[in-house]
Amino acid sequence: MFKTKRLGMFIHWGIYAVNGLHEQEQWRYSVYYKDYQKNMLLFNPTDYNPKEWVSIAKDAGFDYITFTTKHHDGFCMWDTKYSDYKITNTPYGKDVLKMLSDECEKQDIGLSLYYSVPDWHHKNYQNTVGHHEINEVKDGDEPSEALYIEYVKNQLQELLTGYGKIQSFFWDIPPKTRDTSLNELIRSLQPGIYINNRGYDDGDFSTPERMSADGASFDGLCEACDSIGKESWGFRKTEDYHSKLYLTSSIDRYMAMGANFVLNVGPDEKGNIPEKAKSIVSSVGNWYKNVKEALFAEPVKYEWASKNGFLATRKTNTLYLHFLASPDADGFFIREIKTLPKNATVLNDGTSLSIFWDKIPRLFNGHKESMIDVCHIHGIDADKLSSEAVIIKLEFENLDTAFDETTIVDSQRIL
Ligand code: GLC
Repeated sequence: MFKTKRLGMFIHWGIYAVNGLHEQEQWRYSVYYKDYQKNMLLFNPTDYNPKEWVSIAKDAGFDYITFTTKHHDGFCMWDTKYSDYKITNTPYGKDVLKMLSDECEKQDIGLSLYYSVPDWHHKNYQNTVGHHEINEVKDGDEPSEALYIEYVKNQLQELLTGYGKIQSFFWDIPPKTRDTSLNELIRSLQPGIYINNRGYDDGDFSTPERMSADGASFDGLCEACDSIGKESWGFRKTEDYHSKLYLTSSIDRYMAMGANFVLNVGPDEKGNIPEKAKSIVSSVGNWYKNVKEALFAEPVKYEWASKNGFLATRKTNTLYLHFLASPDADGFFIREIKTLPKNATVLNDGTSLSIFWDKIPRLFNGHKESMIDVCHIHGIDADKLSSEAVIIKLEFENLDTAFDETTIVDSQRIL
């Protein structure tokens, strides 16, 4: 993971799929606990087919799956001994996590587990009635942090011993309490596992969400996440799905900065990944497979790149220019470059671009000061590629001597 397994499919699935509102409907839509918990008796995902889910992820080129074992509602998607609020007490009656982990192993795809700290069901969880909490105190609640942590530890024991190799652990909503013993337990049960920074200590990797990145690279390990659905991570009947341009730009930005990325889908109450979601995953996957070599290359912190709306990655003498969105024209200039690249290719569709020296006026206070030599790269089918992030591959004889700090890549018009 982080070097070889870089793109994951996040799956938010639970009894919230029954109403199809939001994975936090108890909080966001004020659905009372006594009404919400009835969804357990209605959850019967007879179409659930983990083989198909894994194939959807694999066909799109994803390297791993991150699955919600327990979201804030506290409902457990595995056959836990420590709660009755669990998948095996639904009419469906089967351990869906076990079915998924077996399938991941069979099809050789990584498995990561999501686990929420807030728990709107467990009697010992301390509901602070704040952000990400339900606005009610339930009958029978006996808040006790120590007992709740004991419950969590018992569940970690189950999750990290009964479901094969788990490559990473995704805590959600960092608690105020700092307690390194939870991550120590995880590491002792799954040596080599990566743990995110939303748990009881800082863990190994950060988790920026949606489009919140800035800069050209991350300092430490990072796994960004976004959902194909704009409003929810779980299944939502009236979901607005993101465009391919938005999603590929988001993946491109984060991966070019060196982060992993998990793209989320929310299967419905029958266990189906909605048709629209499948087609988005597959078209994002086609883009990903075409441009993957640029996303696996090293981030380069060229100031000129980020200033002009680009990011750059490199692999030995190959430079990849990430437009982060679609280009505004079918060509662009590179100023203050010393040697021309040998080849220029649009990774998205394999188009080979023309490369030539050109001259443009250098303006100073509105007056032409002199003419400057620029490398002109031309021939991008900008209209055809307007719905995805475009990446240009430039192959140099020697990349280290081609540029210096004053280089500018310019897709703007010459005024
Ligand atoms: C946000 C959502 C939460 C979701 C998480 C995934 O925090 O509120 O429901 O599980 O993102 O990272």
